Amino acid sequence: MEKAFGRPILTQEEIQKRIKELGNQITMDYDGKDLVMIGVLKGAFPFYADLVRSIRLLLRVDFLVVTNRPAEDKSKGEKVKVLSDLSEDISGRDVVLVEDIASTGMTVSHVKKKLLARKPKSLKVCTLLDKPERRKVRVSVDYVGFTIPNKYVVGYGLDFQNRYRNLPYIAVMDQVSEADELFYWQE
Ligand code: IMP
Ligand code: MG
Repeated sequence: MEKAFGRPILTQEEIQKRIKELGNQITMDYDGKDLVMIGVLKGAFPFYADLVRSIRLLLRVDFLVVTNRPAEDKSKGEKVKVLSDLSEDISGRDVVLVEDIASTGMTVSHVKKKLLARKPKSLKVCTLLDKPERRKVRVSVDYVGFTIPNKYVVGYGLDFQNRYRNLPYIAVMDQVSEADELFYWQE
């Protein structure tokens, strides 16, 4: 197998190591609290699954399914649409929102607003990736896995047209081949 998917900018090992650190941090910060971890689908699914398993606390899990229209789409209406809502009541609870990436910040900011309206006791954001150069709205992210340059990335949940999400590492899209089949980069 050739390097059909390009060289990872973040390897599986680097991702897993960082997630353990984030899990330890959240374990310390939320000891004794009523924690609900909310995963934003689809993109956050692998990160979310690894992160919650690295947190050594009794916590609740829940999910939001959202879609975002591309930044170029100037038509009216909200950029971020909630396709499927929470099943847990978050009022009075300590909530951590888990995202794949904060880019313009619109998604995080929109989802935060929606959740704050439900009166959680606290609300923090944990994102695997942060692309601060793309930021258009001011939004605070509390836990960041990796800060990355302004490049379009895929893998480990992140997609291009809903593909590449199952890639176990993160690669820059323009270094990804057009191959239809899923080949993995090898040393
Ligand atoms: P934002 O609203 O611009 O911050 O973008 C957030 C959403 O856009 C993320 O949840 C991703 O679904 C998508 N996105 C932004 N940058 C990338 C990228 O580099 N690769 C894949 N998806 C991205
Ligand atoms: Mg996406």
